[in-house]
Parts: sequence; C-alpha cells; structure tokens
Amino acid sequence: MSDPNYTTDDAGIPVPSDEHSLTVGPDGPILLNDAYLIEKMAAFNRERVPERQPHAKGGGAFGTFEVTHDVSAYTRADVFQPGKKTELLARFSTVAGERGSPDTWRDPRGFALKFYTEQGNFDMVGNNTPVFFVRDPMKFQDFIRSQKRRADNNLRDHDMQWDFWTLSPESAHQVTWLMGDRGIPRTWRHMNGYSSHTYLWYNAAGERFWVKYHFKTDQGIEFFTQDEGDQMASMDTDYHTRDLWEAIDGGNFPTWTLHMQIMPFDDAKTYRYNPFDLTKVWPHGDYPLIEVGKMTLNRNPADYHTEIEQSAFEPSNAVPGTGPSPDKMLLGRWFSYPDAHRYRIGVNYKELPVNSAHATTVRSYSKDGAMRHHNPGDPVYVPNSKGGPHADPSVSGPPVGWHTDGEMVRTAYTLRAEDDDWSQAGTMVREVLDDAARDRLVDNIVGHLLNGVTPPVLNRAFEYWRNVDKGLGDRIEAGVQAKQNELDPKAEKQGNPARSTAQDKA
Ligand code: HEM
Repeated sequence: MSDPNYTTDDAGIPVPSDEHSLTVGPDGPILLNDAYLIEKMAAFNRERVPERQPHAKGGGAFGTFEVTHDVSAYTRADVFQPGKKTELLARFSTVAGERGSPDTWRDPRGFALKFYTEQGNFDMVGNNTPVFFVRDPMKFQDFIRSQKRRADNNLRDHDMQWDFWTLSPESAHQVTWLMGDRGIPRTWRHMNGYSSHTYLWYNAAGERFWVKYHFKTDQGIEFFTQDEGDQMASMDTDYHTRDLWEAIDGGNFPTWTLHMQIMPFDDAKTYRYNPFDLTKVWPHGDYPLIEVGKMTLNRNPADYHTEIEQSAFEPSNAVPGTGPSPDKMLLGRWFSYPDAHRYRIGVNYKELPVNSAHATTVRSYSKDGAMRHHNPGDPVYVPNSKGGPHADPSVSGPPVGWHTDGEMVRTAYTLRAEDDDWSQAGTMVREVLDDAARDRLVDNIVGHLLNGVTPPVLNRAFEYWRNVDKGLGDRIEAGVQAKQNELDPKAEKQGNPARSTAQDKA
C-alpha cells in the first residue's frame, strides 16, 4: 500500500474503491457479494439512535467543578469536599422540540450535569427554572404530549397546551416562568440551572439535610424577546449550540457558581409549604443561598453523537452523601431515566466512555447483553468465596433515608398552611418582575393565546391568570380582545397569524 492512510471496512480490511460498487461489467447490475457496499448502506440506515422523548434538541461540553467553600458539615459526598476538583459533562436542551427544532423556541431549558467523581458518577438533571408544571409523575406523560404534536395533523397546538395547563392549576408557577423572560434565554451561557427538586444530603456523622441546587450563571442572565427569538429561529436554528461551541473554541469559558439552599431535616415537618412540592420554591429569606463552588466548561466534544447524543443522565446516579427526597416526581424520575436509556441506547449504555465512571473502577455484577464489551469475569455471583467484590455497608452509615408510614393511597400531597397553586406565581408577578418584565409577560401570553387558542379554553386561560393576579388576568383578556378585533377575518379563520400572512403573500 503506497499511502498508509488507506480506507478499510469496519473489520479493518483494505477496500479497493471509495466510489464504485462492484458490478458485472461497467454497465451491469451490482453484486450482492459487495460486502463493503452493503456494510456502508446498512451502517447508514442505523446511524440514528431514537431521539430523547423530551429534551431531544441539545448540545453540551465538558469541564470541571471546583469546590471553593466548605460544605462538609452538610454532605460527605466526595465531589463537594473542600478544594476538590471534578471533571464533568453538561448538556443543555429544549424540552418539546425534536432534534432539528430551533434552539430559540419558548420552552424551559434542560440543565443536565454528570460529575465523574471518585465515588462514581453523580448526575444533577435540572432545568433553567426552579419549579415544574406538575407535581405527580402520573401527569408527566400527559403534560409532555400536550406540548408536542396532535394525533390528527401532527401539528403543535397551543389550544392543547392551554387546555392542559388551565385544567392543571399547579402549573401556574412554572407557566409564569415560561411566559416570562426566562422562557427564551439569550444563550445557554446566560441562564441559571436548578435542581428544582429537593434532594437529601447527609454528612459523615449521618446528619441529614434537605437541599436544592442553584447553579447561577457568572455571565449574567440575558434573554431574547419573543420577536428576537422568532427572528433567530428563522435565521439560525442552532444558535445556542453554536454559541456555546464558539465561546469554548475561542477560549471564552463560561462559568456558573453553585449555591445550595439547605433545610435542617426536621424543619420539613412544619415548614409552611410542603418542601417536596416541585411547583414551589423555598423563599430565600427562609433558606438563604450557601456558596459551594464553581463550574467551568472548557472543552468541546470531539464527536457529537458519541459524547452528547449518547450521553445518558439520570437523577438516580446519586453518590454517598446525596439521595432522593419524598418528592413524588423525583421518585418517578429515579425509575424513568435508566429505563429510557436502556431503550434509547441499549442495556449497556453505561459502558460507553461518556457514561462510564472515569475516576473510579466499576466492580458491579452486571454482565452480558447487547454490545457488552467488557465482562467482570468470575465469580459471576455474590455472595462468593472466590475473591469477588462485596458490598460495603459503611457507605450508608447511620440511617440516612427518611421515614415513611401509612396506608397505600392515590391522593394529592397533604396541604400545608400556605400551600396553594397561585400565590407563589402571584408574588413573582407582583414583587419579582419590574414593570417592563411584567409588560413582556402580558405580551408573550397574549401572543401565545392568539395562536389558535379557542373558547372555552381561552376563557379558562383568562381565569387562570386572574387567579395568579387579578390585574394581570384583566390585562391579558383585554390584550387578546384588542388583537382579535384588529385581526383581519381571514387570519382569524386560520388561527395562525404567521401562516396566514405567508399564505396571503403566496
Ligand atoms: C430528559 C422523564 C421531569 C429534566 C428526560 C427523558 C425522560 C424524562 C424519559 C429522556 C431521557 C433520555 O432519553 O436520555 C421525566 C419524567 C419526569 C421528568 C418521567 C417526571 C416524573 C423532569 C424535571 C426536570 C427534568 C422535573 C428538571 C428539573 C430533564 C432534562 C432532560 C430530561 C434536563 C435531558 C437530559 C439530557 O440532557 O440528556 N426526562 N422527566 N425532567 N429531563 Fe425529565
């Protein structure tokens, strides 16, 4: 071989042509024994793994997390010990859009982290908002379907979205975040990441705490208005993916500072809100932010498919010193993610380099299955007297779970003194947003409702917002009515102003 850089097939065998199939004479039919052609066609047909059900469109990068403040009084997790520096992977995403959908559509953003710790991989799979739309995993599937596409025409449908939201009042807090400025971050670098859920931490002495993670962007919060987001969606569907790549490529490494809210274990019993209800925040006046460390993203993936598309995050990757809380949604997710990965990637997804533990050795008894490339060897069972690994009870230490007792029931959480679906959203509208942000919130909601939402859902939407804040609801109704009066009759029939304008031009 004169050129050492010769093409081979997947078995390493040199191939005679990159361009020509094997045929009977130059003009004759191609032959079934052209194994290389068949390998090329077959591999191509199998290039895509199924996209993630939610969060299909995303991008990510590698980096480090460095602990700058001592929180060892609250957790024994290696990754949070003073001075510790840990490698990590971050993936950011939209929720409802498919793999090719625009980065700047209004949606929450996923904020998923995998820390390659010396105690095994620790995943924090959060969003850019501190709350969520529902509080029982029974409703998650319906919620996501209402955001995706209709069965009949395969179109997304705002009427369906508002139908679900207005029949699910617990969504009000998160819909307020979504319709406000956080619904279209300017870039992934300019948004915060939250665990949203409450998790458990416990220290070396076995003392327990309830915690929430807040990764605050050091770049500052920036957002796109609806118009800017729409324009960007038509100019560059991959704007956020490109921005992160180019920033890191140019040595402009984005950073986030991790702060925790930490609640003493026993406070949960009497706190004025149910501290495990994912639709609520803990006001910072009650539980202030405690600084922990800094996350820096400094390395782009070398291959998108193997390092980002096949990355698999799961809240159940919880290292000693961390654990779940009784949040029903979180416990649902504990099952859902590994199940999704076994379907989407395959049973041995944790063997892929991006998902495997880098900073420790895996000594599990899992074996075999599709695409397994490394088995632990004998003994294949435990207990054994043949030198195989055995579990270490000290990793759980003193009792570090939480106690629960009661009848089996299907019911909502028990309400606490200040638990309701509207108040925290109302406080946000009145006390957190300034006038300009409130005006944009009204405009965004009015624009969204005008895009195909019809009575009785429309009337329920006005009521929904009046429950959040009377003045806000009145403004939204007045805004929708004013715009409806302005709309030309053709556009009204269409129910989609953008589409009717395009059709008029055509
Ligand atoms: C992705 C289920 C709630 C954040 C996913 C995936 C599933 C799922 C099946 C796709 C996983 C994959 O194929 O790789 C659920 C269920 C939930 C729930 C059943 C509630 C019961 C939440 C909440 C958050 C969240 C509350 C944020 C606080 C994410 C993120 C991803 C994701 C960030 C993308 C992870 C990545 O980048 O690969 N979810 N989810 N999910 N979910 Fe959830």
